[in-house]
Amino acid sequence: MRQFFEWEWFGIEFDSFCRPSSLSPPSPAFYETFYQILGARCHTWTDLDPDFRAEKRAIAEFIFGRVESQDIILSIGCGLGYVEHCLLELSQGTLHLEVTEVAPAALKLIQKEIPASRVHVGFFPECIPTNLKYNLAIMSDIDYTMDQSSLAVLLHQIKGRLAPQGRCLLISGGLDSPVSFWWKILRAAKKTAVAVLEAVGLLHRRQFWGWVRMQEEYQDAFSQAGYSELRDGFIGKGPNPVGYYWIEARLS
Ligand SMILES: C[S@@+](CC[C@H](N)C(=O)[O-])C[C@H]1O[C@@H](n2cnc3c(N)ncnc32)[C@H](O)[C@@H]1O
Repeated sequence: MRQFFEWEWFGIEFDSFCRPSSLSPPSPAFYETFYQILGARCHTWTDLDPDFRAEKRAIAEFIFGRVESQDIILSIGCGLGYVEHCLLELSQGTLHLEVTEVAPAALKLIQKEIPASRVHVGFFPECIPTNLKYNLAIMSDIDYTMDQSSLAVLLHQIKGRLAPQGRCLLISGGLDSPVSFWWKILRAAKKTAVAVLEAVGLLHRRQFWGWVRMQEEYQDAFSQAGYSELRDGFIGKGPNPVGYYWIEARLS
């Protein structure tokens, strides 16, 4: 697992609305402010970048291919909800789809398409009613916000909210690749040099954005959480040569 840093997201530079931190990952308040700024610029889905929409649509098509019509689905950390918008379009509005998100401002567009009782604001599992069980839990591009032990805990909590034979599907924003010892040293040296240049104001200050993982680390997190039936693979072409990585576990 490796930390990564960003200066901007959707073209919005972080130092335009806060003092980025290279030590702490973004808080819900950070995401909330970010989504408020993005929301002021985006009034319809088509205001979002076409490449972003094409990638998320490919993910939605992949998910839709794994959905059964009676499934009760929960998407954890839906963000803007474009994947969910596409899922609803693909199913012609027939899917029972619920979402969670820590930053309510993100939900501006998707909450027009999903009944309020299916939109849960806050952290999973606290934000959803305790009596509900899901056939499919989706985590699309949110695991980067968690370190390895938090991810294993979340996967375990999801397990407790699945119906019999329920599935947990994680889609990763990108996989890390194994590198040599010397490459790791070089990377650590670069990280230190960048931190110094940021501290003296010679480089744009970056925000610690989260963690990127290798395939084995995803498999380990699911195993640590107590899942045994694992399947994984890649979705078409994503932002890297192999496409998006997915991993799914089914309760036996
Ligand atoms: C990159 S966005 C992904 C959104 C969406 N699932 C997608 O595929 O486009 C990551 C989202 O995770 C949310 N998030 C941040 N920390 C989280 C946490 N600990 N648990 C769940 N979601 C979190 C953020 O608010 C943000 O909307």
